Amino acid sequence: MIQANRLNQVSEYYFSTKLGEVRALEAQGKDIVNLGIGSPDLPPPPQVIEALNLAFVNPGAHQYQPYKGTGEFRNAIREFYKNHYQVDLNQETEILPLMGSKEGITHISLAFLNEGDEVLIPNPGYPTYSSVTKLVGAEAVYYDLNEAGNWLPNLKELAKTDLSKVKLMWVNYPHMPTGASATDAVFQDLVDFAKKHQILIVNDNPYSFILNEDPKSILKVEGAKEVVLELNSLSKTFNMAGWRVGMLCGSEQHLKTVLKVKTNMDSGMFYPIQAGATAALHLPKKWFSSQNEIYGIRKEKILELAEALECTPAKKQTGLFVWAKVPEGSTSEGFVDYVLHKYSIFIAPGFIFGSQGEGFVRFSLCETTENIQRAIKRVKS
Ligand SMILES: Cc1ncc(COP(=O)(O)O)c(C=O)c1O
Repeated sequence: MIQANRLNQVSEYYFSTKLGEVRALEAQGKDIVNLGIGSPDLPPPPQVIEALNLAFVNPGAHQYQPYKGTGEFRNAIREFYKNHYQVDLNQETEILPLMGSKEGITHISLAFLNEGDEVLIPNPGYPTYSSVTKLVGAEAVYYDLNEAGNWLPNLKELAKTDLSKVKLMWVNYPHMPTGASATDAVFQDLVDFAKKHQILIVNDNPYSFILNEDPKSILKVEGAKEVVLELNSLSKTFNMAGWRVGMLCGSEQHLKTVLKVKTNMDSGMFYPIQAGATAALHLPKKWFSSQNEIYGIRKEKILELAEALECTPAKKQTGLFVWAKVPEGSTSEGFVDYVLHKYSIFIAPGFIFGSQGEGFVRFSLCETTENIQRAIKRVKS
């Protein structure tokens, strides 16, 4: 059967094919140090596993769950936003649990975009924003981020362009893949920009607790809810990527629109997952410091590895990755293949995040210090 036209502009996710190549090398006996993907290798908090196990024997555990999540889970999200971001949310109307923030990108796009609507997408940025935009028949309009501008959007330049067809803008601070973060002033400018040009801004915020001193939510800006939604996730914050659990926060009106899509796509989240996620969100701040101690040590090692490979890491970075310039004269794809075949180390090429990522690579911190040390040894010897 011929595929639907909507798939013509979308290709298979890079990692889905490249990891096949990595696995084939492993099958040939190569010992690959995988610094490509951001899937946390550390375990979730023990309290989460305990809550999950207890939830299995709850009499209603195996039934369909409410579309909006359980009251306990939404309350935990409300408290989490209050405690960590100083943002007040109404747990009945302004919180929508999701199966990971990735599904939220599709739901939001289906909920708000018509064919031909334009969507502002960061370049470089998480590839799903553009693939989903294309899948729903909208037009991706990329806004360039660069090192000189600290990987922040140049709203003054954007305002000079024709924004009349733009309905949605994706932002992602702390930013993946560059590790850049936004100040309060940047978030304020974004909200002002959204109001002035009548654009719905969505901040995708899964990295705010990883090696970041000052976690922020764009929803803290006064009046933000009128024009802003925020996605968040437990994948990186609590090492629960495989659980598929996240959330969307914003105004009642926007969430009702998204819920119209979501109620037609799933039938609630498995109760034990919600119970485990609730336990995670209640954890004290020392959970973050314990994780960041480990990530801090790994980051030092990754910086050493990057230097040994003659890459130049960006100066100030947060998050789960190290973003670095490749050596002069290399392309990001060529460099990644060279490092994979010469040293059996897999890193992500910057071009997969957009043209502005060309010339850069992304190292993940989701490998043990010992394995990163092994990688360093291979390169140095
Ligand atoms: C910027 C960004 N947004 C969203 C996601 C997806 O997160 P989740 O696991 O919550 O779907 C990722 C995962 O790598 C990401 O890097």
